[in-house]
Amino acid sequence: MNSLFSERVQQIKKSAIHEMTKLSKEIDDVAFLSWAKPTSGTPEHINNAVIEAIKNGLTGGYSTSEGLDALRKEIVIKLNRDNHIDATISQILVTVGAIEGLASAVMAVIDPGDEVIMPSPTYSTHIRQVQIASGIPILIPLIEDDGFALDIEAMKQAVSPKTKAIMFCSPSNPTGTVFPENDLHQLANIALENNLIVITDEAYEYFVFDNNKHFSIASIPEMTSNVISCFTFTKTYAMTGWRVGYLHAHEEWIPQIKKAHIPFAICAPVASQYAALAALTGPQDCVDDFRKQYRSTRNLMCKRLDELKQFFDYQKPSGSYLMFPKILVEEGKDSIAFCKRLLREAKVSTTPGIAFGPSGENHMRLSFCVPEDEINKAFDRIEHFFEGSYNILA
Ligand SMILES: Cc1ncc(COP(=O)(O)O)c(C=O)c1O
Repeated sequence: MNSLFSERVQQIKKSAIHEMTKLSKEIDDVAFLSWAKPTSGTPEHINNAVIEAIKNGLTGGYSTSEGLDALRKEIVIKLNRDNHIDATISQILVTVGAIEGLASAVMAVIDPGDEVIMPSPTYSTHIRQVQIASGIPILIPLIEDDGFALDIEAMKQAVSPKTKAIMFCSPSNPTGTVFPENDLHQLANIALENNLIVITDEAYEYFVFDNNKHFSIASIPEMTSNVISCFTFTKTYAMTGWRVGYLHAHEEWIPQIKKAHIPFAICAPVASQYAALAALTGPQDCVDDFRKQYRSTRNLMCKRLDELKQFFDYQKPSGSYLMFPKILVEEGKDSIAFCKRLLREAKVSTTPGIAFGPSGENHMRLSFCVPEDEINKAFDRIEHFFEGSYNILA
């Protein structure tokens, strides 16, 4: 029976994230810290603009596969203004979220057996996208004690004749690291010296805290032909369900990436493209509000973790709305077992670190894109859990 399934799907392991979500649903009143999904709703002015577009009969058909011209023009303005990318409209492809952009980019770049260098831990979907394309993820551990910094030297050493690409997200899911400009310049040098493509996932570009800055590697002029940068409306405007994002690449890449985009998607949902247009052209206060909210929930989560120092060690996230504490108790060495126990006994849903690659083991991912009450509820329960039956100290 199984032999009918392709090898490319059979090699993909069950997702620990989805398994935890399924288990969490079986538990009443769970404190939920496991999804990287904003709990805020899409801002009203975006919803209203789409209602108007529907009433005006604009949303019933396909758009061109590249996306609506009006939207791509606004994306160009945004990329020039905020990312310092010297973009033109012919370099933009509107996609079904960042995910379909990333998947199409990987399909356009990777042949079977090609290697893709990635930091580890990293967003598990990137690993799967490379595997689905029959490529080989080469996972290079981040330097945890240095705030989960890129190990540039190790990445350089990992380049082989089979290496085709480097793929990463910054700000990072799951660690919350914002890779600094200087490191990304060094990464760009590795790509240029070895003729590699860099595929970026910049989903959390606007959620950067303190004095950190988001840097787009495509803004380095020499990298024009070597970067495919993927973006999304999902996080910035709390538009998870609309499924709309976009990518930027050299215009020679766009027709090649479209060869993957069209059979998977034809075009991004048109109603969602109108939502994206309203997001870019409307007031931007919501983005600042979300950023402030996440900075404050990050601070609260760090404070609550500080009170549990004998059980967790953590690197303060400089971006995204995720953090990746190390579990200091013995049982944390099996992060799935630990997170399942926390769910069953404390009713707190977290994500086992192993879901993000082998160097994620012994950690758990926590999301702080939730209301403060949810964080306090979760941590009150975690404290109680450690006070009670738990007796294995670090
Ligand atoms: C790093 C990263 N990229 C992409 C996505 C999904 O983006 P989209 O909804 O635009 O497909 C997520 C969602 O969790 C993410 O964490």
